[in-house]
Amino acid sequence: MQQLYVFYQQSRVGELVKLNARQMRFQYDQAWLASPEAFALSISLPLRSEPFEQAETFFANVLPEGDVRAALCKKLGLSEKNDFGLLAEIGGEVAGAISIYSTAQLPDYESQLLPLSESSLAELLQALEKTPFKAIDGDIRLSLAGAQNKLPVMKLDKTSSSFALPISPDLATTHIIKLANAHFKDLVLNEVTTMRLAKALGLNVPEVDFLSVAGKTHFIIQRYDRSGGERLHQEDFCQALAIDAANKYEVEGGPSLNQCADLIRGYSHKPAADLLQFVRWVLFNLLVGNCDAHGKNIAFLYAPKCELAPFYDLISTQCYEALSQKFSMKIGGENRLDWIQKRHLQAFSESIGVKFTLVLKEFNKMVALIEQHQSVLEPYLPLKRVVNNNVQKLSRRFEV
Ligand SMILES: Nc1ncnc2c1ncn2[C@@H]1O[C@H](COP(=O)(O)OP(=O)(O)O)[C@@H](O)[C@H]1O
Ligand SMILES: [Mg+2]
Repeated sequence: MQQLYVFYQQSRVGELVKLNARQMRFQYDQAWLASPEAFALSISLPLRSEPFEQAETFFANVLPEGDVRAALCKKLGLSEKNDFGLLAEIGGEVAGAISIYSTAQLPDYESQLLPLSESSLAELLQALEKTPFKAIDGDIRLSLAGAQNKLPVMKLDKTSSSFALPISPDLATTHIIKLANAHFKDLVLNEVTTMRLAKALGLNVPEVDFLSVAGKTHFIIQRYDRSGGERLHQEDFCQALAIDAANKYEVEGGPSLNQCADLIRGYSHKPAADLLQFVRWVLFNLLVGNCDAHGKNIAFLYAPKCELAPFYDLISTQCYEALSQKFSMKIGGENRLDWIQKRHLQAFSESIGVKFTLVLKEFNKMVALIEQHQSVLEPYLPLKRVVNNNVQKLSRRFEV
């Protein structure tokens, strides 16, 4: 029987057993269930002593996807579907507060890290292009979801760019570097600018910046699930709803806007404020043409009470002709950008129980803020064009 152990700080939370190629069983430890610090790892894994026979929908969702996963599996000699094998290899530092180890006892808390000089960071980032998440052999075990090549790092001091990688489990990363992508021109510029526009429009987003290393410019974002060296727990909406990463798009069975709203209403400790943030997220994605806002790009943060996490992975996919022009979640039954009319927005408002006048008011406010913050768009003119064009089109259609 193959087993892994799940930890939160120094406490063992439970045990994960491989049942077959895809399926994993998870069971909370009795000691965890009895502990005053106990919390459920997921809405889909409530605290209870009976095992969960299909726990892979939570755990496999912390693993990388797409080409990054393919390259990683090649390097590790694993089949691409081997979630359990991947968790064993890289599940040490993942999204949220847990760490996964193959030993029943956690390795020592010895504050061991690997400092990265500028030249070693440059080398590492280059090596990551071939061997995502595994460019360094040994004890460094890092994993994040998504198909973009990325590296979680510890920023050692606030003002300068000195970084390290955590080795012992007491140390956590603080930032995520997303590497420049040769297939999509100016993706870094797109993401930084889109995230900055989101901030200017009142969306809750983490700090982002450019990171120049050896002549290449990457994207860097502060982790909202890390605070003062501690890990805060998070789960994305696919994890909360027990949906595989492979089915993250609504057309494949992934979360719909209604299901997202139901989660927020059912579990957030401040549902009204979070529903409003959620409405802003939907409107923002419409305005910037972000068609990739699926159920793994929205999450709950347990800080420690359940709330909507800050938004991440906001880019304008509309800037790339090669990418789908269909929204990953239907708005009032419609997902084609050019077909979304006032009645669809109204149907969406009604279905999530938010007054349509309020949604229109938010839309108005965002449009006014876009006008005020044109300078934010200046660094990336394709986005400026897309946004201003969408503002015009949608304002006309929504008659506001
Ligand atoms: N600022 C952040 N703080 C904490 N976790 C994050 C942050 N940004 C991204 N993540 C986590 O990393 C995963 C991958 O990041 P994302 O930006 O979505 O990459 P990709 O473009 O590859 O999908 C997310 O699904 C989320 O779990
Ligand atoms: Mg993503």
